Amino acid sequence: MRTLNAAIIGCGSIHRCHVDALQQTPGVVLRAVVDIEKDKGLALAAEYGCHFYQDYHEMLCDEAIDVVHICTPHYLHKPMILAALAAGKQVFSEKPVGMNLAEVAEIREAEKQADGQLGVCYQNRLNPTSLALRQLLDENTLGKLLSINAFLTWSRTPPYYADSPWRGRYATEGGSLLINQAIHTLDLLQWFGGGVSRLKGVVDCARLSDTIDTEDTAMATLEFSGGARGLFFASNNHTRDAPLQLEIHCENGELQLRDNTLWRVSEGKRVMIACDETPYSHSKSYWGIGHLQAVRQFYDAIRSGKSEGVTHLHEAAKSLHLVEAIYRSSQLRQWVSLTQ
Ligand SMILES: NC(=O)c1ccc[n+]([C@@H]2O[C@H](COP(=O)([O-])OP(=O)(O)OC[C@H]3O[C@@H](n4cnc5c(N)ncnc54)[C@H](O)[C@@H]3O)[C@@H](O)[C@H]2O)c1
Repeated sequence: MRTLNAAIIGCGSIHRCHVDALQQTPGVVLRAVVDIEKDKGLALAAEYGCHFYQDYHEMLCDEAIDVVHICTPHYLHKPMILAALAAGKQVFSEKPVGMNLAEVAEIREAEKQADGQLGVCYQNRLNPTSLALRQLLDENTLGKLLSINAFLTWSRTPPYYADSPWRGRYATEGGSLLINQAIHTLDLLQWFGGGVSRLKGVVDCARLSDTIDTEDTAMATLEFSGGARGLFFASNNHTRDAPLQLEIHCENGELQLRDNTLWRVSEGKRVMIACDETPYSHSKSYWGIGHLQAVRQFYDAIRSGKSEGVTHLHEAAKSLHLVEAIYRSSQLRQWVSLTQ
C-alpha cells in the first residue's frame, strides 16, 4: 500500500480531530501543518514531527504532499480548495465547502478541471445512529415517512466569538448558527427525508446581538420531495451543548434519537437500535464520532478510485442550499422553493 502524505491547513479547534484520525489511519503520514500563527504552528509541528509552513501556497509546492485538509475559517475554504485542486492535490475540507452557493458554483468549475477528489467533512452521516436510521428508512421498515422533527440546542457565548473573530460575521463565516453549528442537522434532515422541496423559515438574533452580526436562533417548516413534513429548530442560546434530538414519524411507528441513542417506538414499546460511542480523544461529544470514519473513507476512496461514503460537492451543497433558503424565506416572510 502506497503511503499517502497529508497536510493540514489551519491549526485551530477542529484540527486535532484530523490529526487523531490521520494517526489512526494505516498508510497515512501527517507531513505538514500550516497556520498563519507561527509560534503555534511551529510548536504543533514539533509535537507531530512534521514540517511547518506559514504560507499555504508554499506547502502546495511540496510534491510529496498528496492530500490537503482544510480546517480554516469559512471565507478561506473556497480559495484554498481552488489552490489545492489546481496544485494537483486531493482535498478534504471541513464543512461548509464554501460560504454560499455562488462559491459552490466556482468550486464545481474548478473541480471539473482537477485530477484530485474533493471530500467534505459531514462526519455525522457516519454516526452508527445515522447509518442505522438511514438503513431503516431505505428498507421502508416502518412504512411511509410522515415527518421528521429536529431540535438542536447548543451554547455559544461571547468568548467563543472573541477567540476566533471570523465567527459570527456574514463576511467571514457566511452566517453563524445555520452555516456552522446547525449545518450537520440540516444535512441529516435532507439526507433522511430524501430532499427538501420547499420551506418557510425564520432567523433571529436573540441573546448574542451585541456580539455577532448573524443569527443565534432559527426555525423552519419543511416539505420533503416525497411529501413528508419537517420541523427544524436550532439555537446557540442553550446553557450546554445538548445532543441532537430527532423524531422520525412513519406510518407504522416512530424512530427517536435521544442522548446519542436511536430508539424504535411502536405499539407502546421502545427498542434500542444503535448508540454512538464516546468520541475519541480530542473530539467533543456534540461533534459526533465520525471524523475518523470520514477521514478513512476519503483515503480509501483515493486509493480505490471509488467514492462510497465520501460527501462530495453535490451532496455538500444540499445543506448550503437549505441555509440560503432559510435566510431568503426569513427575509421575504414566505415559502421558498428548492426545486429548480
Ligand atoms: N465537522 C465539525 O463538526 C466541525 C467542528 C468544529 C469546526 N468545524 C469547522 O472547522 C473549520 C475551522 O473551525 P475552528 O473552530 O477550528 O476555527 P479556529 O478559529 O479555531 O481555527 C482556525 C485556524 O485557522 C488558522 N488560519 C487562519 N487563516 C489562515 C491562513 N490564511 N492560513 C493558514 N491558517 C490560517 C487560524 O490561525 C486558526 O489556527 C470551520 O470550517 C468550522 O466550521 C467543523
